[in-house]
Amino acid sequence: MARILLTGAAGGIGTRLRTLLKPIYPRLRSSDMRRPADLRNDEEFVLADLSQMDEVERIVEGIDGIIHLGGHSTEGPWETILQSNIIGCYNLFEAARRKGVKRVVFASSNHAVGFYPRHHRIGTDVTVRPDSRYGVSKAFGEALGALYAEKHGMRVLCLRIGNFGDKPIDQRRLAIWVSPDDLVQLVRIGLEHSDLRFEIFYGGSDNERSWWDNHTAHDYGYRPTGKAEAFRDEALAAQAKLPPDPIGDYFQGGTFCSAEFDGDASRVWKT
Ligand SMILES: NC(=O)c1ccc[n+]([C@@H]2O[C@H](COP(=O)([O-])OP(=O)(O)OC[C@H]3O[C@@H](n4cnc5c(N)ncnc54)[C@H](O)[C@@H]3O)[C@@H](O)[C@H]2O)c1
Repeated sequence: MARILLTGAAGGIGTRLRTLLKPIYPRLRSSDMRRPADLRNDEEFVLADLSQMDEVERIVEGIDGIIHLGGHSTEGPWETILQSNIIGCYNLFEAARRKGVKRVVFASSNHAVGFYPRHHRIGTDVTVRPDSRYGVSKAFGEALGALYAEKHGMRVLCLRIGNFGDKPIDQRRLAIWVSPDDLVQLVRIGLEHSDLRFEIFYGGSDNERSWWDNHTAHDYGYRPTGKAEAFRDEALAAQAKLPPDPIGDYFQGGTFCSAEFDGDASRVWKT
Protein backbone atom coordinates (compact mmCIF):
# COMPACT_ATOMS: atom_id res chain seq x y z
CA MET A 1 0.00 0.00 0.00
CA ALA A 2 1.50 3.36 -1.05
CA ARG A 3 3.10 5.47 1.64
CA ILE A 4 2.27 9.11 0.94
CA LEU A 5 3.80 12.32 2.33
CA LEU A 6 1.71 15.50 2.51
CA THR A 7 3.70 18.72 3.02
CA GLY A 8 1.98 21.93 4.08
CA ALA A 9 -0.32 19.75 6.17
CA ALA A 10 -1.26 22.51 8.62
CA GLY A 11 -2.48 24.86 5.87
CA GLY A 12 -5.93 25.43 4.41
CA ILE A 13 -5.71 22.79 1.68
CA GLY A 14 -3.55 20.44 3.76
CA THR A 15 -6.06 20.42 6.60
CA ARG A 16 -8.86 19.37 4.23
CA LEU A 17 -6.74 16.83 2.37
CA ARG A 18 -5.59 15.13 5.59
CA THR A 19 -9.19 14.21 6.25
CA LEU A 20 -10.15 13.39 2.65
CA LEU A 21 -7.04 11.33 1.88
CA LYS A 22 -6.76 9.26 5.06
CA PRO A 23 -9.34 6.65 3.92
CA ILE A 24 -7.64 6.44 0.50
CA TYR A 25 -4.04 6.34 1.77
CA PRO A 26 -4.12 5.00 5.33
CA ARG A 27 -0.31 5.26 5.50
CA LEU A 28 -0.30 9.06 5.18
CA ARG A 29 2.55 11.03 6.74
CA SER A 30 1.93 14.74 7.23
CA SER A 31 4.53 17.46 7.64
CA ASP A 32 4.68 21.20 8.14
CA MET A 33 6.83 23.76 9.95
CA ARG A 34 3.94 24.19 12.40
CA ARG A 35 1.79 21.59 14.07
CA PRO A 36 -1.78 21.38 12.71
CA ALA A 37 -4.22 22.63 15.34
CA ASP A 38 -6.61 19.73 14.65
CA LEU A 39 -4.04 16.89 14.57
CA ARG A 40 -5.62 13.58 15.64
CA ASN A 41 -3.93 10.80 17.62
CA ASP A 42 -4.10 8.37 14.70
CA GLU A 43 -2.17 10.70 12.35
CA GLU A 44 1.57 10.53 11.69
CA PHE A 45 3.03 14.05 11.72
CA VAL A 46 6.66 15.19 11.43
CA LEU A 47 7.69 18.80 12.01
CA ALA A 48 10.11 20.06 9.33
CA ASP A 49 11.26 23.28 7.72
CA LEU A 50 11.49 22.81 3.95
CA SER A 51 14.44 25.20 3.72
CA GLN A 52 16.59 22.71 5.70
CA MET A 53 17.75 19.80 3.52
CA ASP A 54 18.46 17.46 6.46
CA GLU A 55 14.91 17.92 7.74
CA VAL A 56 13.43 17.32 4.28
CA GLU A 57 15.50 14.15 3.80
CA ARG A 58 14.06 12.89 7.07
CA ILE A 59 10.40 13.40 6.06
CA VAL A 60 10.76 11.75 2.62
CA GLU A 61 12.44 8.61 4.03
CA GLY A 62 10.45 5.47 3.09
CA ILE A 63 7.89 7.41 1.05
CA ASP A 64 6.44 6.32 -2.35
CA GLY A 65 4.68 9.53 -3.37
CA ILE A 66 4.59 13.16 -2.23
CA ILE A 67 1.86 15.80 -2.36
CA HIS A 68 3.88 18.99 -2.05
CA LEU A 69 1.69 21.78 -0.73
CA GLY A 70 4.20 23.34 1.69
CA GLY A 71 5.39 26.86 0.99
CA HIS A 72 4.45 30.51 1.19
CA SER A 73 1.05 30.56 -0.46
CA THR A 74 0.68 34.18 -1.52
CA GLU A 75 2.86 37.14 -2.56
CA GLY A 76 5.58 37.86 -0.05
CA PRO A 77 9.02 39.40 0.47
CA TRP A 78 11.75 37.87 -1.68
CA GLU A 79 13.56 36.34 1.32
CA THR A 80 10.41 34.45 2.35
CA ILE A 81 9.71 33.22 -1.18
CA LEU A 82 13.38 32.27 -1.58
CA GLN A 83 13.53 30.17 1.59
CA SER A 84 10.16 28.41 1.47
CA ASN A 85 9.35 28.17 -2.25
CA ILE A 86 12.67 28.20 -4.10
CA ILE A 87 15.11 26.50 -1.71
CA GLY A 88 12.26 24.54 -0.10
CA CYS A 89 11.02 23.21 -3.44
CA TYR A 90 14.54 22.30 -4.58
CA ASN A 91 15.15 20.47 -1.31
CA LEU A 92 11.91 18.56 -1.74
CA PHE A 93 12.69 17.29 -5.27
CA GLU A 94 16.36 16.63 -4.52
CA ALA A 95 15.65 14.78 -1.26
CA ALA A 96 12.98 12.77 -3.10
CA ARG A 97 15.54 11.77 -5.74
CA ARG A 98 18.13 10.79 -3.14
CA LYS A 99 15.63 8.67 -1.23
CA GLY A 100 14.11 7.01 -4.30
CA VAL A 101 10.63 8.57 -4.14
CA LYS A 102 8.78 7.68 -7.36
CA ARG A 103 6.12 10.39 -7.64
CA VAL A 104 5.59 14.06 -6.75
CA VAL A 105 2.39 16.08 -7.11
CA PHE A 106 3.42 19.73 -6.95
CA ALA A 107 0.95 22.45 -5.94
CA SER A 108 1.67 25.06 -8.59
CA SER A 109 -0.64 27.99 -9.10
CA ASN A 110 -2.64 29.96 -11.65
CA HIS A 111 -0.29 32.82 -10.67
CA ALA A 112 2.44 31.19 -12.80
CA VAL A 113 0.36 32.42 -15.76
CA GLY A 114 -1.51 35.31 -14.09
CA PHE A 115 -0.52 37.93 -16.68
CA TYR A 116 -2.61 36.31 -19.41
CA PRO A 117 -5.69 38.44 -20.07
CA ARG A 118 -9.01 36.91 -19.14
CA HIS A 119 -10.24 36.87 -22.75
CA HIS A 120 -7.27 34.64 -23.68
CA ARG A 121 -8.04 30.92 -23.29
CA ILE A 122 -4.81 29.16 -22.37
CA GLY A 123 -3.62 25.58 -22.34
CA THR A 124 -0.79 24.23 -20.22
CA ASP A 125 1.71 24.59 -23.07
CA VAL A 126 1.83 28.41 -23.02
CA THR A 127 4.90 30.37 -21.93
CA VAL A 128 4.68 31.22 -18.25
CA ARG A 129 3.64 34.81 -17.42
CA PRO A 130 3.98 35.01 -13.62
CA ASP A 131 2.22 37.87 -11.88
CA SER A 132 4.32 38.00 -8.68
CA ARG A 133 7.47 36.72 -6.98
CA TYR A 134 5.14 33.97 -5.72
CA GLY A 135 4.11 33.14 -9.32
CA VAL A 136 7.78 33.02 -10.35
CA SER A 137 8.42 30.49 -7.56
CA LYS A 138 5.63 28.28 -8.93
CA ALA A 139 7.08 28.46 -12.46
CA PHE A 140 10.41 27.46 -10.87
CA GLY A 141 8.77 24.49 -9.18
CA GLU A 142 7.23 23.36 -12.48
CA ALA A 143 10.65 23.61 -14.15
CA LEU A 144 12.23 21.57 -11.34
CA GLY A 145 9.52 18.97 -11.76
CA ALA A 146 10.25 18.74 -15.50
CA LEU A 147 13.98 18.33 -14.78
CA TYR A 148 13.51 15.55 -12.24
CA ALA A 149 11.06 13.77 -14.54
CA GLU A 150 13.26 13.97 -17.64
CA LYS A 151 16.62 13.36 -16.00
CA HIS A 152 15.76 11.06 -13.12
CA GLY A 153 12.59 9.31 -14.24
CA MET A 154 10.47 10.69 -11.42
CA ARG A 155 6.75 10.86 -12.23
CA VAL A 156 5.63 14.43 -11.67
CA LEU A 157 2.28 16.19 -11.89
CA CYS A 158 2.11 19.97 -11.46
CA LEU A 159 -1.33 21.31 -10.59
CA ARG A 160 -1.89 24.97 -11.40
CA ILE A 161 -4.49 25.32 -8.69
CA GLY A 162 -7.06 28.04 -9.22
CA ASN A 163 -8.84 28.78 -5.95
CA PHE A 164 -9.60 25.98 -3.52
CA GLY A 165 -12.66 26.09 -1.30
CA ASP A 166 -16.22 25.01 -0.72
CA LYS A 167 -17.50 27.65 -3.15
CA PRO A 168 -16.29 30.46 -5.44
CA ILE A 169 -16.31 33.76 -3.56
CA ASP A 170 -16.22 36.40 -6.33
CA GLN A 171 -16.33 36.82 -10.12
CA ARG A 172 -12.74 35.76 -10.71
CA ARG A 173 -13.24 32.64 -8.62
CA LEU A 174 -16.23 31.67 -10.79
CA ALA A 175 -13.62 30.95 -13.48
CA ILE A 176 -10.90 29.31 -11.38
CA TRP A 177 -12.59 27.61 -8.41
CA VAL A 178 -11.70 24.02 -7.53
CA SER A 179 -13.76 21.98 -5.10
CA PRO A 180 -12.07 19.75 -2.49
CA ASP A 181 -13.38 16.56 -4.16
CA ASP A 182 -12.11 17.63 -7.57
CA LEU A 183 -8.69 18.43 -6.16
CA VAL A 184 -8.59 14.95 -4.61
CA GLN A 185 -9.34 13.48 -8.07
CA LEU A 186 -6.42 15.40 -9.56
CA VAL A 187 -4.03 14.43 -6.77
CA ARG A 188 -4.94 10.76 -7.22
CA ILE A 189 -4.13 10.93 -10.94
CA GLY A 190 -0.69 12.24 -9.96
CA LEU A 191 -0.09 9.50 -7.41
CA GLU A 192 -1.61 6.56 -9.24
CA HIS A 193 -1.94 6.92 -13.03
CA SER A 194 0.34 4.43 -14.76
CA ASP A 195 0.90 6.56 -17.90
CA LEU A 196 2.02 9.68 -16.06
CA ARG A 197 5.57 10.92 -16.68
CA PHE A 198 5.40 14.72 -16.48
CA GLU A 199 2.26 16.79 -16.90
CA ILE A 200 0.83 20.15 -15.96
CA PHE A 201 -2.92 20.33 -15.29
CA TYR A 202 -5.12 23.24 -14.27
CA GLY A 203 -6.68 22.72 -10.87
CA GLY A 204 -10.18 23.91 -11.70
CA SER A 205 -13.66 22.40 -11.39
CA ASP A 206 -16.26 22.16 -14.18
CA ASN A 207 -16.56 25.96 -14.44
CA GLU A 208 -18.50 27.45 -17.37
CA ARG A 209 -16.41 30.65 -17.20
CA SER A 210 -13.04 28.89 -17.12
CA TRP A 211 -10.17 30.56 -18.99
CA TRP A 212 -8.29 27.29 -19.34
CA ASP A 213 -8.07 24.45 -21.80
CA ASN A 214 -7.60 21.55 -19.39
CA HIS A 215 -8.03 18.71 -21.90
CA THR A 216 -4.81 16.99 -20.76
CA ALA A 217 -6.34 16.39 -17.34
CA HIS A 218 -9.49 15.04 -19.01
CA ASP A 219 -7.34 12.71 -21.15
CA TYR A 220 -6.09 11.22 -17.87
CA GLY A 221 -9.65 10.62 -16.72
CA TYR A 222 -10.34 13.80 -14.72
CA ARG A 223 -14.12 14.23 -14.41
CA PRO A 224 -14.79 17.28 -12.22
CA THR A 225 -18.14 17.49 -10.48
CA GLY A 226 -17.97 20.97 -8.94
CA LYS A 227 -19.83 23.66 -10.91
CA ALA A 228 -18.98 27.25 -9.99
CA GLU A 229 -22.07 28.59 -11.76
CA ALA A 230 -24.24 27.04 -9.04
CA PHE A 231 -22.91 29.82 -6.76
CA ARG A 232 -23.13 32.61 -9.36
CA ASP A 233 -25.54 34.98 -7.62
CA GLU A 234 -23.68 34.89 -4.32
CA ALA A 235 -20.29 35.36 -6.01
CA LEU A 236 -21.46 38.27 -8.16
CA ALA A 237 -23.09 39.96 -5.17
CA ALA A 238 -19.76 39.73 -3.33
CA GLN A 239 -17.96 41.06 -6.42
CA ALA A 240 -20.23 44.12 -6.52
CA LYS A 241 -18.91 45.16 -3.11
CA LEU A 242 -15.27 45.11 -4.26
CA PRO A 243 -13.56 48.28 -5.49
CA PRO A 244 -12.86 48.44 -9.25
CA ASP A 245 -9.36 47.29 -10.19
CA PRO A 246 -8.72 47.99 -13.92
CA ILE A 247 -5.45 46.03 -14.06
CA GLY A 248 -6.51 43.20 -11.76
CA ASP A 249 -9.90 42.80 -13.43
CA TYR A 250 -8.27 42.55 -16.88
CA PHE A 251 -5.81 39.78 -16.10
CA GLN A 252 -6.35 36.23 -14.88
CA GLY A 253 -4.17 36.77 -11.78
CA GLY A 254 -6.47 39.51 -10.39
CA THR A 255 -5.02 41.59 -7.55
CA PHE A 256 -1.68 39.77 -7.83
CA CYS A 257 -1.29 41.66 -11.14
CA SER A 258 -2.27 45.10 -9.87
CA ALA A 259 -0.24 44.87 -6.64
CA GLU A 260 3.04 46.81 -7.03
CA PHE A 261 2.12 47.50 -10.68
CA ASP A 262 4.11 50.44 -12.05
CA GLY A 263 4.40 49.28 -15.67
CA ASP A 264 2.96 50.96 -18.74
CA ALA A 265 -0.80 50.70 -18.28
CA SER A 266 -1.46 51.87 -21.86
CA ARG A 267 0.27 48.72 -23.15
CA VAL A 268 -1.81 46.46 -20.95
CA TRP A 269 -4.89 46.63 -23.13
CA LYS A 270 -2.90 45.49 -26.17
CA THR A 271 -1.88 42.13 -24.65
N1 LIG B 1 -5.46 27.82 -1.62
C1 LIG B 1 -5.51 27.97 -2.91
O1 LIG B 1 -6.56 28.26 -3.50
C2 LIG B 1 -4.24 27.78 -3.74
C3 LIG B 1 -4.24 28.20 -5.07
C4 LIG B 1 -3.10 27.98 -5.84
C5 LIG B 1 -2.00 27.33 -5.30
N2 LIG B 1 -2.03 26.95 -3.98
C6 LIG B 1 -0.84 26.31 -3.41
O2 LIG B 1 -1.25 25.15 -2.69
C7 LIG B 1 -0.45 25.01 -1.51
C8 LIG B 1 -1.34 24.96 -0.27
O3 LIG B 1 -2.08 26.15 -0.22
P1 LIG B 1 -2.85 26.61 1.12
O4 LIG B 1 -3.93 27.53 0.70
O5 LIG B 1 -3.18 25.43 1.93
O6 LIG B 1 -1.71 27.47 1.80
P2 LIG B 1 -1.47 27.71 3.37
O7 LIG B 1 -0.65 28.95 3.47
O8 LIG B 1 -2.74 27.65 4.12
O9 LIG B 1 -0.58 26.45 3.77
C9 LIG B 1 0.79 26.36 3.41
C10 LIG B 1 1.50 25.62 4.51
O10 LIG B 1 2.90 25.54 4.18
C11 LIG B 1 3.63 25.69 5.38
N3 LIG B 1 4.97 26.20 5.09
C12 LIG B 1 5.33 27.42 4.59
N4 LIG B 1 6.66 27.52 4.53
C13 LIG B 1 7.17 26.34 5.00
C14 LIG B 1 8.47 25.86 5.21
N5 LIG B 1 9.54 26.62 4.92
N6 LIG B 1 8.62 24.63 5.70
C15 LIG B 1 7.54 23.85 6.01
N7 LIG B 1 6.27 24.26 5.85
C16 LIG B 1 6.09 25.50 5.34
C17 LIG B 1 2.85 26.68 6.22
O11 LIG B 1 3.16 26.54 7.60
C18 LIG B 1 1.40 26.34 5.88
O12 LIG B 1 0.82 25.48 6.84
C19 LIG B 1 0.54 26.15 -1.52
O13 LIG B 1 1.76 25.71 -2.09
C20 LIG B 1 -0.12 27.18 -2.40
O14 LIG B 1 0.83 28.03 -3.01
C21 LIG B 1 -3.11 27.17 -3.20
